[in-house]
Amino acid sequence: MAYTESLSFDQRLWPDDIAGSVAHVRGLARVGILTEAERDAVLVALEQVASEMGDGSFAFGPSDEDIHTAVERRVTELAGPAGAKLHTGRSRNDQSATDVRLWLKRELMVVAQRVVALQDVLLQRAEAAGGTYLPGYTHLQRAQPVLLAHHLLAHGWALGRDVERMLDALERIDVSPLGAGALAGSSLPLDPDFTATELGFAGRFENSLDAVGSRDHIAEALFVLTLVGINLSRMGEEFVLWTTDEFGFAKLDDGYATGSSMLPQKKNPDIAELARGKAGRLIGDLTGFLATMKGLPLSYNRDYQEDKEPLFDAMDQIRLALGAVTGMIATAAWVPERMQAAADAETSSATDLAEWLVQRGTPFRDAHAIVGALVRRTLAGEGALRDLVAADPALGPEAAALVAPGVSVQRRTTPGGAGPAPVAVQLERFRIKLAELRAATTGDVR
Ligand code: ARG
Repeated sequence: MAYTESLSFDQRLWPDDIAGSVAHVRGLARVGILTEAERDAVLVALEQVASEMGDGSFAFGPSDEDIHTAVERRVTELAGPAGAKLHTGRSRNDQSATDVRLWLKRELMVVAQRVVALQDVLLQRAEAAGGTYLPGYTHLQRAQPVLLAHHLLAHGWALGRDVERMLDALERIDVSPLGAGALAGSSLPLDPDFTATELGFAGRFENSLDAVGSRDHIAEALFVLTLVGINLSRMGEEFVLWTTDEFGFAKLDDGYATGSSMLPQKKNPDIAELARGKAGRLIGDLTGFLATMKGLPLSYNRDYQEDKEPLFDAMDQIRLALGAVTGMIATAAWVPERMQAAADAETSSATDLAEWLVQRGTPFRDAHAIVGALVRRTLAGEGALRDLVAADPALGPEAAALVAPGVSVQRRTTPGGAGPAPVAVQLERFRIKLAELRAATTGDVR
């Protein structure tokens, strides 16, 4: 029992297990397998079980292998012979599959709502960032200046795709397996469409073997949760960098930072680091469960009991991570002087100088070489880039003005680009997208 039980972790499914039993009992009474009196006795017992579970007074017994057996045992204690009819035409195989789908529908929607809340914080911070700019990086080397708003919204768009993935996955989760029985349906006149509707599912299974013998919806949910975790991890890594003395782009609010037990001066970005560290564990939840699924023949196999712990762990961790990271980003202070000083390194304007030459007819490869040679000379200590540019016959004083602080970011003008004009358009588009996602995730979730 210690090895095979799942009660220790599937207990949390009790509200869904009871909801599934209520629908099942109604379905049985509807086709005359239970009398109305028997149905009502079972429904009263289920209500009693719900209240005992809710207030913590439910006494689990030594033979309660999982939440399903525990609920059924108690219902039978309370309702007598009528209770013994509860499991008619049902198996724990379709029952547990139903429970997890009900649970996942609700929980995944909560995650989607919290991702939208994080997007909202990114939007607010982007709106408030105004003209603040920082270096944009490739290879973690300074590349070209970008508006801070542009950087924040880059994460916002990625999170929006995660929300869309969740909504898409929810369509496949929203299918009732109840009525599939152990694997092949029943000789009793069950109506899976009725129970599906009772439970608020969009529809019922098409194939009973598939209903109890597939877990791709769980693998998919785990993937989306893991991807959210990876996106939080990447943001976390940036906050770890940005809050170093070396970068100095951001300061964490004290409420979202931790001290050191030994070093009095330390202010550590533990939330950002755990967002990064826990992504490893989420990847483990996903890949571990994929390995569990691999090689399983149809239909139900006890291996499937192993779907719950990784799913619950991933869900718990992501919910906590979203709360913590959202708060951290909402309250962090930017240090625009540091960001802009880093972005105003003269060499950041090298591409603008080359493009200035291109607009005057120089082939881009030649322009690249001309500016590259000047950059090499400035790095060798021959003088400031703006002076070398001003003195260069191909460039001159007009081009040298491009090297001045704050000029380069203004010149990122193309659609979707990093400068003020396209970012203003992007902000508007982001607001519209976010309103759509908010509307799609504020549906009533049972
Ligand atoms: N606790 C089990 C699970 O989560 C319930 C199903 C057990 N079914 C069986 N035929 N032994 O999968």
